Amino acid sequence: MNRRKAVQCLAGFFAASPLARAQQDLPYSGERVPALEDLVNVFEFEPICKMRIPRQNYDFIAGGVDQEWSLRHNREAFDKISLRPRMLVDASHLDLSLTLFGDKLSCPILVAPTAGHAQANPEGEFATARAAAATETILILSTNSSHPLEKVAEASNFPKWFQLYPGPDLEGTWERIQRAMDSGYKTIVLTVDAGYNSHRERLLRNRLRTQTPPGVPSPQSRRARVREEETSTPSRPAVYGLTTTLMHKLDWRFFDELKKRSRVPVLIKGILVAEDAELAVKHGADGIVVSNHGARYLDYAPATIEVLAEIVDVVNRKMPILVDSGFRRGTDILKALAIGATAVCVGRPPLWGLGAYGEPGVRRVLELLRTELALAMGLCGKANLSQIDRKLVRM
Ligand SMILES: Cc1cc2nc3c(=O)[nH]c(=O)nc-3n(C[C@H](O)[C@H](O)[C@H](O)COP(=O)(O)O)c2cc1C
Repeated sequence: MNRRKAVQCLAGFFAASPLARAQQDLPYSGERVPALEDLVNVFEFEPICKMRIPRQNYDFIAGGVDQEWSLRHNREAFDKISLRPRMLVDASHLDLSLTLFGDKLSCPILVAPTAGHAQANPEGEFATARAAAATETILILSTNSSHPLEKVAEASNFPKWFQLYPGPDLEGTWERIQRAMDSGYKTIVLTVDAGYNSHRERLLRNRLRTQTPPGVPSPQSRRARVREEETSTPSRPAVYGLTTTLMHKLDWRFFDELKKRSRVPVLIKGILVAEDAELAVKHGADGIVVSNHGARYLDYAPATIEVLAEIVDVVNRKMPILVDSGFRRGTDILKALAIGATAVCVGRPPLWGLGAYGEPGVRRVLELLRTELALAMGLCGKANLSQIDRKLVRM
């Protein structure tokens, strides 16, 4: 054995030792899945989810668009804001509850609409709906749910909302909202930021590399597949096509028509600038979700936490403002509430919980976020949501 080989062997020995592993601060060894109670924050669910579900399904969940600048920025933007805690305030009775459109939630944390939960676990949205209900919070069901919206509606007794992607045509769209309302969904959340199919490079590479084996759910959403089938021509691979949805043709007249046809509140998801928030108020939206779609459509879209203040200011309490994209900590949520958000939605973390541990994993993710928020509120001297205002943050 030469000297180089000996050094390599020694390095391998240390890398495999339990001591070295302990110093990496990981709650699991890489082969062993830890007990659910051993996880202490929501980030820790992601590598376990990655380990437990097919690679292409994980990539579908994880991916952002293009070079994923917005994906990184969604997290980095929180670091530019610190908290201004107040002392010697009695915060012994913490109350995180809020009422949204007539329903009482245990905390201002909702499950964002995400496509195809069965990619993380065969129970899919049934498990997520039960976990959200156990946490007394709302699941916003995606148009691209793995299970029919009527069946998910029956999975739990807690209120749920329905996210709408218009298409493939207007008739189909009106039919879908009718089905959602008939099944008891309490609001319609119209997503407006996905008019063109986005260029998610992790997905494109996977599609070039592999064909989905029979029986394995495709990493693409049903809508994307339908759209791709509709728009691609055999002579040109779809991955290079400029594929669109019905949404790229829609404008505020569509929203007005949707409002007319809906007997439940209608929210708009995907607002990123004050001008559009003003228009949403003018057109009678019942609420908005400030969102960059978890950095999955337009790269260099701003982080939502950095545009939230300008939007809150023009909306001026005329409707609830929800916000999502990158929220992973109780303190992230507290910062958004301080800037003026009514509540926060989380997209990937519940999917990590679902992929890693099924329904109990989703529940634990939501509980961890709720506990972190409660602790941060208590340490800032805020006993309930109405005591939180912009003086709590230094931006
Ligand atoms: C795997 C995945 C699927 C998604 N599917 C949808 C969808 O069907 N409809 C929609 O409006 N937003 C969808 N989104 C965006 C989420 O609603 C939400 O805006 C985003 O996930 C929030 O960012 P976060 O994942 O960093 O929490 C999806 C996001 C992910 C990660």
